[in-house]
Amino acid sequence: ATAPRGLVAPAALFGEARANSRGFDLSDPAVLAAIDAARAGDIPDAEPLTAGPASGPRRAVINPATGAEVAQVTEADAATVAAALDAAQVWAAPAAERAAVLRRAADLYEENFGPIFAVLAREAGKALPDAVAELREAVDFLRYYAAQGEGETRAPRGPIVAISPWNFPLAIFSGQIAAALMAGNAVLAKPAEQTPLIAALAVRLLHLAGVPRAVLQLLPGDGATVGAALTRDPRVAGVVFTGSTETAQIIARSMAAHMAPGTPLIAETGGLNAMIVDSTALPEQAVRDIVASAFRSAGQRCSALRCLYVQDDIAPRILEMLKGAMDELTLGDPWQVETDIGPVIDAEAQSLIEAWVAAHESALLHRVSAPSDGHFIGPVLLKVEGIAQMEREIFGPVLHFATYAAEDLPQVIEAINARGFGLTFGFHSRIDGRVEEVAEEVRAGNIYINRNQIGAVVGSQPFGGEGLSGTGPKAGGPLYLNRFFAPDAPEAPQ
Ligand code: NAD
Ligand code: ALA
Repeated sequence: ATAPRGLVAPAALFGEARANSRGFDLSDPAVLAAIDAARAGDIPDAEPLTAGPASGPRRAVINPATGAEVAQVTEADAATVAAALDAAQVWAAPAAERAAVLRRAADLYEENFGPIFAVLAREAGKALPDAVAELREAVDFLRYYAAQGEGETRAPRGPIVAISPWNFPLAIFSGQIAAALMAGNAVLAKPAEQTPLIAALAVRLLHLAGVPRAVLQLLPGDGATVGAALTRDPRVAGVVFTGSTETAQIIARSMAAHMAPGTPLIAETGGLNAMIVDSTALPEQAVRDIVASAFRSAGQRCSALRCLYVQDDIAPRILEMLKGAMDELTLGDPWQVETDIGPVIDAEAQSLIEAWVAAHESALLHRVSAPSDGHFIGPVLLKVEGIAQMEREIFGPVLHFATYAAEDLPQVIEAINARGFGLTFGFHSRIDGRVEEVAEEVRAGNIYINRNQIGAVVGSQPFGGEGLSGTGPKAGGPLYLNRFFAPDAPEAPQ
């Protein structure tokens, strides 16, 4: 059957054309040998990759696992941003050619897994399994949007600014760019200041695959300077942003003041994500999923579990098992295959998280020790009455533990919804009717039942929140690409 305009037919969504990346087997000696070779290799540098003249300040990139300098990079300055906007060109190639280039880029990403893992580990402290997942997601985005847009004839919007966070410095960075490019836009990409090296590597691969330099330009630099300059330029036709809710609000205000009414902002932002475990849950499975949701990637996922509610009947058992499971986690060198948890991103993040834990010391239920070098935080479990007590998103391996009585389940859901975020939510229960009711009541973009609540898969689990967690449309879903084409009729001002 033919899909309605802007939607993708099931065959294209689930057929050969967009199979997800196979990923990398970390028990394969050939894969491990390539990783070892990359470990010993040089780290590529970063600088503005623009079609105009470039200049700017230098910044040191720090390895969060050691505190040592990885590289000195050149950032963009105001003149470089202005010149890049002057030089920006939409991608005139037909959609089928754009799709072929993105697919070639996806292949290049996969072929270069060694250097990519090396940069992800050294610049972002990504443990190898997280680096594998991140590369897969980046590749999936490239192939997914290529498959979705290859038959398109709609016009692009123009220059799109893409601003991304450090916690998925390859996957989110590439996903934003892939969608904007697939719709034929010019892209000005500003990575997070902590992770310019992986961004530069990705852009070099995209250029190598055939994306013209005036179509995709990289502008590394500070949010308050480069990001702010890009989001107040009236030539910009749209902004795609992933990061904190506060920054999204700053960008929205700047766009409203400087850009044409109706210029779209796609913002994927933070969350205060909860999980409820009722007394019918399977404790072993619940504990495994709690640990993965709260502590994998050192809790530095927007999707990560922040506040756990356990029904009082089984709370003592879950708590004991959870403490034991936390003690089994291995923290350390992101390069070691056995490492579960790497460092947090930098000294500032470390001290913010430590300050929160110190302020709630009397509520400490459990804490795992961490290496003293670098910016590590051992997973922490804090007792809370409920989610209302959490003043903000704590972006690290800190889980808040609450209990509830069966009759109070509606109040728990009300408290979760009252926070105004709506990113992920997890529920463990073996009562189907209750699962349906809870899933219906909780306001969250991604709801996970009897599993962990991280790692949405492109194409199968479109990802994005509501309320303070984002504007939609969901990334890796069928509606995302639409937003990057010029509308048929003028859009209503936002
Ligand atoms: P952040 O908001 O500090 O930074 C994100 C990006 O915005 C960076 O590139 C930064 O340089 C830029 N920026 C900062 N100030 C700016 C300004 N005034 N104008 C323009 N750009 C500016 O967020 P972060 O610390 O990098 O990332 C962590 C946050 O991101 C968490 O809140 C997390 O929940 C959220 N996040 C959300 C998703 C999602 O899909 N919903 C995914 C990953 C991360
Ligand atoms: N897409 C990422 C996840 O689901 C943020 O964990």
